[in-house]
Amino acid sequence: MNGKPLPAEIRPIREADAESYRACLDRVARERLYLAFTEAPSAAEAKFFIKAMVQRGLPFVVAVDPSDTVIGWCDIHVPPDNPLRPGFQHAGQLGMGLDESWRGKGLGTRMLQVCFDWAQRIGLERIELQVYASNSGAIALYRKFGFVTEGVRVRARKLDQHYDDIVIMARLRPPQANNGG
Ligand SMILES: CC(C)(COP(=O)(O)OP(=O)(O)OC[C@H]1O[C@@H](n2cnc3c(N)ncnc32)[C@H](O)[C@@H]1OP(=O)(O)O)[C@@H](O)C(=O)NCCC(=O)NCCS
Repeated sequence: MNGKPLPAEIRPIREADAESYRACLDRVARERLYLAFTEAPSAAEAKFFIKAMVQRGLPFVVAVDPSDTVIGWCDIHVPPDNPLRPGFQHAGQLGMGLDESWRGKGLGTRMLQVCFDWAQRIGLERIELQVYASNSGAIALYRKFGFVTEGVRVRARKLDQHYDDIVIMARLRPPQANNGG
């Protein structure tokens, strides 16, 4: 994006990244602006989540700095199959974030590209996400990748005396995802 190679690497997450991933998620969550979390879940929960994602082969990458510290993540979670509620295994939910000092350098674009290629390989047809309406940077990025707005949950969050709308967006697998073919 800016021509110069970045001192950050994008790679699939490993179980050994659990603590570093949790710490990164915690830093972004504590900004109280972009994520539903305002702090990260416990280390045990983070570990469990990573393990399940890795075992199921679902897209999950981290951006790491030269010391292999996690400075960002992107994942596409598919809720485990429930025979009582079938019909949702083709759709995944996207989540991502980067440490503040690493934003705006093209890393979000790179992580999304890797996750979308991965999603394509495992046959995901629909990727959906929820983003706060105030998060115009993220919304611009998602639009660039072909996400469209499917709806808005008005004043869905009230935090620190501020309301925010939640924008529901989705991206169907190109070129013609929704024709049964
Ligand atoms: C959203 C986020 C992951 C994007 O990653 P990033 O590395 O900063 O984004 P990139 O540098 O790849 O930017 C790609 C595009 O996104 C858009 N964009 C990113 N940041 C922007 C900003 N602050 N304002 C406007 N557009 C922005 C632009 O369209 C940009 O393309 P351009 O450089 O050609 O103009 C990152 O900014 C972040 O972690 N934000 C805080 C956490 C968050 O919002 N997570 C998502 C919750 S739904």
